[in-house]
Amino acid sequence: MKIGILTSGGDCPGLNAVIRGAVLEGVITHDAEFVGFRWGWRGVVEGDFMPITRHDVRGLSKQGGTILGSSRTNPYEGEGGGPENIQRMLADNGIDAIIAIGGEGTLTAAGRLHDEGGINIIGVPKTIDNDLAATDYSFGFDTAVEIATEAIDRLRTTAESHGRCMVLEVMGRHVGWIALHSGMAGGAHAILIPEQPQSIEQICEWVLSVRDRGRAPLVVVAEGFRLPDMESAHSHKGLDAFNRPRLGGIAERLAPMIEEGTGIESRATVLGHIQRGGAPSAYDRVLATRLGMHAVDAVYENAWGSMVTLRGTDIKTVSIAEAVGSLNSVPPHRYDEAKILFG
Ligand code: F6P
Repeated sequence: MKIGILTSGGDCPGLNAVIRGAVLEGVITHDAEFVGFRWGWRGVVEGDFMPITRHDVRGLSKQGGTILGSSRTNPYEGEGGGPENIQRMLADNGIDAIIAIGGEGTLTAAGRLHDEGGINIIGVPKTIDNDLAATDYSFGFDTAVEIATEAIDRLRTTAESHGRCMVLEVMGRHVGWIALHSGMAGGAHAILIPEQPQSIEQICEWVLSVRDRGRAPLVVVAEGFRLPDMESAHSHKGLDAFNRPRLGGIAERLAPMIEEGTGIESRATVLGHIQRGGAPSAYDRVLATRLGMHAVDAVYENAWGSMVTLRGTDIKTVSIAEAVGSLNSVPPHRYDEAKILFG
């Protein structure tokens, strides 16, 4: 069997480990052949792919980014887009199946191509935000939390040196998992997430109580956090390729408000894409490798239209339709638990 792999959407530490896991399982167990589509769905739409051999994936699990490149191209757009054109391109090149590694947008498109075009697709969930409901954790999240925690540790020493309040912004468009976990790990004094709007008065109260105990306050905020009077998350950078507002900058908005409300000199740091770069953690390497292996097994089980997923410590399959339907939000009890540490 000839299997095409693609990585699509925002990149994520562990993508290369998925590719390696899939190729090793496919070659060793099933004698499969692999090609990699370049630049996500764009490679599918343009018929742009390259062979991937066992030799090509040597030492790949520790490498950040993706050897295939990624983009936010929509497979329904462009001259070669849509189920019929894609089916024809696959048949012309003898490609039997696609393994699509991506987030909600990628998986939604994969589900449609399977449902409407009968294309043989298996999905692999990818999101550093950990916002897909059908998987307990997604690879890349653990690495992002490590990076954000290190940033908190570093901000703490400079904050204490100056008696300042530091506001660290981390990724998290719809959900606050990176903020919650890094904030708890790093001992943040307030954690602000999209699921739990908080007033500026409440934030200032936490900050002041930290200062009154002689400490330098540290606030972690997810990019999708809103104050109660904000209609949507802060965005001042236009739209991305999927017409979604490009987020980022809420920390820079909050820091002067905190300074004004408390009189404490405040600084903002936006961590940004540093969270997505570099080598994956050991946990992410193992999870990504296992997902890649199980995606190939799902190909040989003809489990088309399904996605591999982590349930507890086991890798299972669920239908893509089920997987993209809902968000993995931070449950209120997890936030309440963290709140005991605030202020
Ligand atoms: O993949 C999700 C995400 O990490 C969001 O948290 C963030 O808003 C977005 O990607 C930014 O992606 P890019 O700048 O690559 O479009």
